[in-house]
Amino acid sequence: MNSAGKAQQLRESKGQGRITALTAYDYPMAKLLDETGIDLLLVGDSLGMVVLGFPDTTHVTLEHMIHHTAAVARAKPKALVLGDMPIHTYDEPVQALASAQQLIAAGADAVKLEGGEEKAATVQALCDAGIEVIGHIGMLPQHVVEEGGYRKKGKTPAAADQLLRDALALQDAGACALVLESIVPHVAAQITNEISIPTIGIGCGENTCDGEVAVITDLLGSYPWFVPPFARPEANVAEAVRLAALAFQKRVREE
Ligand code: KIV
Repeated sequence: MNSAGKAQQLRESKGQGRITALTAYDYPMAKLLDETGIDLLLVGDSLGMVVLGFPDTTHVTLEHMIHHTAAVARAKPKALVLGDMPIHTYDEPVQALASAQQLIAAGADAVKLEGGEEKAATVQALCDAGIEVIGHIGMLPQHVVEEGGYRKKGKTPAAADQLLRDALALQDAGACALVLESIVPHVAAQITNEISIPTIGIGCGENTCDGEVAVITDLLGSYPWFVPPFARPEANVAEAVRLAALAFQKRVREE
């Protein structure tokens, strides 16, 4: 299926069962996850922390994202491949279009960008150019430095109203879905109920969105140095790696 078909399928999945999304940054992980039937593979700029060793996502460049998006796309996933637009690659619509086109050329089916109402014109410009866009509102990791940390969003009635306005503006601009990050559960549920495109939550509580996205290292337990409070690991890959490396060292040294 082509990118437009995958995005249309995502749009139409609202209310039809929950959407599953995981991050992937390389070929083997994309291939393994796709074989399980995951709906969406996000080449997230979380790459900066969990693969490249930066303290946050503000160090990620378009070149990093192109490199890793191309690796994921080489797995030819059936899942929608979503390429994250790094900070300062979409400050205004013309720049955003040039950046998004490079991610699409690398193999992304759609691009994701952070921001609400103030990004509606940019989302509109990308959609007008035939690029599928997923918005990202709530806690915006690209703002972590200026905000001084990762904080829950939508705690006051004014903040909740703004998030709803953001969601509606992105929907009206043509986004095919929204990621909601670390929004208090009742506000995430309200947004999900009031918009017609799917919401994909992370850190918004259970069953408040049309689907969920998780960072693959949180799911696998393969990045033990920082585990967000909402993460629900299903494996302990860090321990498996340590044990395998120790077994290898023991075998080689005793041979
Ligand atoms: O970069 C990323 O992994 C993300 C998720 C937190 C949604 O944007």
